[in-house]
Amino acid sequence: MHVARMSARRLVLASCAALACLWAVRALLGGADGDRDYDGPLLVSRLGAIQEVNRQMPLIFIGGVPRSGTTLMRAMLDAHPDIRCGQETRVIPRLLQMRFHWMKSEKESMRLEQAGITKPVMDAAIAAFMLEVIARHGEPAPRLCNKDPLTIKSGTYVLELFPNAKFIFMVRDGRATVHSIITRKVTITGFDLTNYRQCMKKWNSAVESMNNQCKELGPSKCLRVPYEQLVLHPREWMDKVLRFLDVRWDDSVLHHEDFINKGVKLSKVERSSDQVIKPVNMEALDKWVGHIPEDVVRDMADLAPMLSVLGYDPYANPPKYGNADDVVLHNTHEIKRNRSEWDKKAKEMFNMEWDANNNDPQIDRETSEGPNNGT
Ligand code: A3P
Repeated sequence: MHVARMSARRLVLASCAALACLWAVRALLGGADGDRDYDGPLLVSRLGAIQEVNRQMPLIFIGGVPRSGTTLMRAMLDAHPDIRCGQETRVIPRLLQMRFHWMKSEKESMRLEQAGITKPVMDAAIAAFMLEVIARHGEPAPRLCNKDPLTIKSGTYVLELFPNAKFIFMVRDGRATVHSIITRKVTITGFDLTNYRQCMKKWNSAVESMNNQCKELGPSKCLRVPYEQLVLHPREWMDKVLRFLDVRWDDSVLHHEDFINKGVKLSKVERSSDQVIKPVNMEALDKWVGHIPEDVVRDMADLAPMLSVLGYDPYANPPKYGNADDVVLHNTHEIKRNRSEWDKKAKEMFNMEWDANNNDPQIDRETSEGPNNGT
């Protein structure tokens, strides 16, 4: 009797599991009859939990000019139990850029219209692509997030696709961003790594167009986060960020380094992986000082007017970013004290080969899409 009840229960459980699998597969394939309105894939995690994703989800997008602290922000959010960002997908900004070029060309837009690829068709296809990629490149979570720095260039269009999305726009002193791009040899389309003057101009136009998108999205949809302030006052700024996202506070966001390769998955080929394994620290704040050619420093206000717009004094080298919280001072001191340990850890984690000239790991030498190429 007892045995019979046990096997009946097993049978019911097995049938439920089989039905759930069938349901998930059917939904992933677009329904048995193939004409289901596309509202997003069903996501099945490795643990068997099923999460439905759709265009009404409150997705989170983290953007900014590359080297503005975007990976740090996503690592801090990834440490939160309710949020999953993950590594850069790279394909999402590329697809958005492709669409931008199709739409920019009158001839091409007309051809598409004539072929029945109207705006609703195109929008549904792009949204489906983005959802699949965002949902399936990591585990399910109540809040899914994407950190491809250049997606924010198309912020207003992305909001059309996902009306409940929110954007975090990372900004950083352009002199530090450009110094980082040049010294770490981060090849980005349009940036001439041998020319500070040209790079400052490129930074200016990229950050200007992103800032315009953020303004157009409005304060309820886009929050501008200065990298320097995040680093100096992580608790205050993560509190602002989580309130903006309507996510409950969790202390784990202040200890992202404890979750590396657990909740915080890092890529072996992204350029910030070896920096983001460390706790929040001030090492990168004013590394640029003294390394920018004199004539460029002299003309800074004209080359990069966005510095003043974003609150950075173009004549101060460095500007006063403010005093750090005690915990950040402590982290920075400990990192300096144990520098060789940190280098060793990074090498072991990412199998990095080190460049004898600038001590920078030889990863991700492939050119990133330029932030000035189309919106
Ligand atoms: P530097 O290259 O000047 O060191 P992004 O991820 O947007 O490309 O930004 C990279 C910058 O974020 C790097 O600047 C890096 O030092 C900084 N960063 C990464 N992890 C950090 C941490 N734990 N604390 C402070 N800054 C960090």
